Amino acid sequence: MTPASGGTWDADPDLGEVVVDEQTLERRVRELGEELADAYRDRPPLLVGVLKGAFIFMSDLARAIRLPLEFDVMAVASYGSGTTSSGVVRIVKDLDADLTGRHVLVVEDIVDSGLTLSYLRRNLLARRPASLEVCALLVKEGRQQAAVDLRYVGFRIPPEFVVGYGLDVAERYRNLPDIRVYRGPEPVG
Ligand code: IMP
Ligand code: MG
Repeated sequence: MTPASGGTWDADPDLGEVVVDEQTLERRVRELGEELADAYRDRPPLLVGVLKGAFIFMSDLARAIRLPLEFDVMAVASYGSGTTSSGVVRIVKDLDADLTGRHVLVVEDIVDSGLTLSYLRRNLLARRPASLEVCALLVKEGRQQAAVDLRYVGFRIPPEFVVGYGLDVAERYRNLPDIRVYRGPEPVG
């Protein structure tokens, strides 16, 4: 796909530099897809997308995994102010699927403190899947408070707040086609 010009995004004063551009995203997602297709060749996975941030990544990743697979989604909310996570996580929408005996691949947008992921992992493991791995598009360097067991990672990025490709600030910028630093005001709420 030919990348479109940045259009209106380029003029947005709240957006800083591009951290991962469209072509690099596309290439890495394709690589991850090939790696996952190989890893799950004999045991078709159930992709569990964590809404809303992972929805764009999951849709591209799923098509890059040339294997039959199934999807489910869940939504979590972590209490805390706009750009930091408190680690207190609440399931807002639970899965439809029963995970018992399934090969679960959690698809996450970004791991910052790692608190959301460690909560999710504990919660999902209690449902007795046959296996549980995590694929995160982004991991912020040097921020994880707890050891996070991450099998598949798209990119390790500097610890700045980023938006785009599913990631938002107060629900904005999810459809930005690349990943950029957010330099606007801290949202309230
Ligand atoms: P953690 O619990 O601190 O690892 O934060 C995980 C969640 O916080 C992610 O799933 C995102 O929803 C959100 N988050 C963390 N960092 C960013 C960011 O830079 N941009 C947008 N959302 C973020
Ligand atoms: Mg998220």
